Amino acid sequence: MHDLKGRDFISLADFSPEEIRQLLDAAHDLKRQQKLGLSSRPLMGRTLAMLFHKHSTRTRVSFAVGMYQLGGQALYLGADELQLGRGETVADTARVLSRYVDAILIRTYAHELVLELAQEASVPVINGLTDLLHPTQALADFFTLEEKKGRLAGLKLAYVGDGNNVAHSLLIGAAKLGVNISLACPPGYGPKEEIVAIAREAAAGSGAAISIGTDPQEAVAGADAVYTDVWTSMGQEAESGARRTAFASYQVNAALMALAKPDAVFLHCLPCHRGEEVTAEVVDGPWSVVFDEAENRLHVHKAILAALVR
Ligand code: CP
Ligand code: NVA
Repeated sequence: MHDLKGRDFISLADFSPEEIRQLLDAAHDLKRQQKLGLSSRPLMGRTLAMLFHKHSTRTRVSFAVGMYQLGGQALYLGADELQLGRGETVADTARVLSRYVDAILIRTYAHELVLELAQEASVPVINGLTDLLHPTQALADFFTLEEKKGRLAGLKLAYVGDGNNVAHSLLIGAAKLGVNISLACPPGYGPKEEIVAIAREAAAGSGAAISIGTDPQEAVAGADAVYTDVWTSMGQEAESGARRTAFASYQVNAALMALAKPDAVFLHCLPCHRGEEVTAEVVDGPWSVVFDEAENRLHVHKAILAALVR
């Protein structure tokens, strides 16, 4: 067993494949226990502060409920309502919160803000989404894939759409876990080179194949799972018109799903926009596992909390 107490959860790149395996196994145990009506309260008396600069349904609610189910409590803090919103520094905020709470979850824009918060906090900091990464989502996605397919290594995951925070974390996670991943993004909307480099290095250890291209049909051919995300992420609203044009031929629809394996599943982090990045016939159709995927955020977040919080 790897001792993860006190660690931050900022990127899957910070965890070894064995540590990620341990978190996935713990999440499977927690899900089984919950379905049997069993509960344990390892975080009794502990508090999670949840700082949000952006909207959230799944991340916010699943972390709060997860904390309650583990015996602790969660405090929702609209970051703009804190003194942070009127100029108190990130460093001072981190030091003060560390005197009250046992872990901090943050969703914000700049990834650097999370790195600074983690640097200054003496309690674990969990990245609940930045412009760069969405690691708790990706961990739940690999959990879901494993639950549906019975394995991870050697599967083919196709990601069609924006090379964004979700795509970045999927790339890193796939590379760590030996999942072959093919991205198809419009020219100019591919993943950041620095993330691809991290993924390629991890893939050298796991044997995962990584392919970054622009052709959705090629990416989806023979895939075990097809994933897409919104064309316009939070914070990019001013670009939504240009993005709708650039992404028009990157919609996941039944014709595209027909190129994947017959038993392929469809994944989406949600929220989705039916008629844009995915059609209703796919997200509400037989391929879709998006609501199991959303549920699994809860089990995976509980595993993260139970592992990290002292
Ligand atoms: N997938 C996801 O992170 O959802 P929320 O934005 O609702 O938290
Ligand atoms: N890429 C999306 C994910 C939302 C969960 C965004 O950043 O808005």
